[in-house]
Amino acid sequence: MLRLDKFLCDAKIGSRSQIKGYLKQGFVKVNGEIIKRPEHKVDEEKDQVFFQGKEITYKKYVYYMLNKPKGVVSSTKDPRCLTVTGLLKDTGYDGLFPIGRLDKDTEGLLLMTNDGNLAHNLLSPKKHVGKIYYAKLAGPLTEEKRKELENGVDIGEGTLTLPAKVEQVTETSIHLTITEGKYHQIKRMLWAVGNEVVYLKRIAMGGIVLDESLPVGKYRELTEEEMEAVGLRKY
Ligand code: URA
Repeated sequence: MLRLDKFLCDAKIGSRSQIKGYLKQGFVKVNGEIIKRPEHKVDEEKDQVFFQGKEITYKKYVYYMLNKPKGVVSSTKDPRCLTVTGLLKDTGYDGLFPIGRLDKDTEGLLLMTNDGNLAHNLLSPKKHVGKIYYAKLAGPLTEEKRKELENGVDIGEGTLTLPAKVEQVTETSIHLTITEGKYHQIKRMLWAVGNEVVYLKRIAMGGIVLDESLPVGKYRELTEEEMEAVGLRKY
């Protein structure tokens, strides 16, 4: 349960003082009844709230898929560079942050939210959430090196990387699935086998696959199925 003015404020209907005015003017109905008191309690799961005849759905947490372009940094603020949070400024939601990081020159799937719990669940090393990358390589990958990548390689962390899955796409490009998220991990794994990544794109994370119809630099809300894939129930 939460206060009606907070509900309307979170739904981006206006500022607290504007909302007070709207309530006074009788613009808000809860379950068919005009409510004028800002402190009226609403059940955000069950109550039907209408503002000027339009139903308002309450979303405390929001979840987006961004097709990250090259040249944008995976942070919320940067004095010099465009950030992924900057690409989502039209959502009307404050406090959005990326779930994990992609390098500045990496493209593809980045999940953005204001829900710290989901971020924790997807990033916790104990959960072994799978991430699939498409990588173009400087040179061909031999079968021996492919197996080495799958079994674990030394990237200077004291232990070998965890078992990975490597599918050859062409002679010089692969799909690589990893369950860790070490700094520059894919690039370092390829360096460890004497190769080099020349292009990198994340195509899936935790059961969510990058929507290929989403243009680079654009975002959209996760669908119900995608939310279920990461253990979330819609609203
Ligand atoms: N591995 C990398 O090397 N870079 C990324 O952006 C993600 C994974």
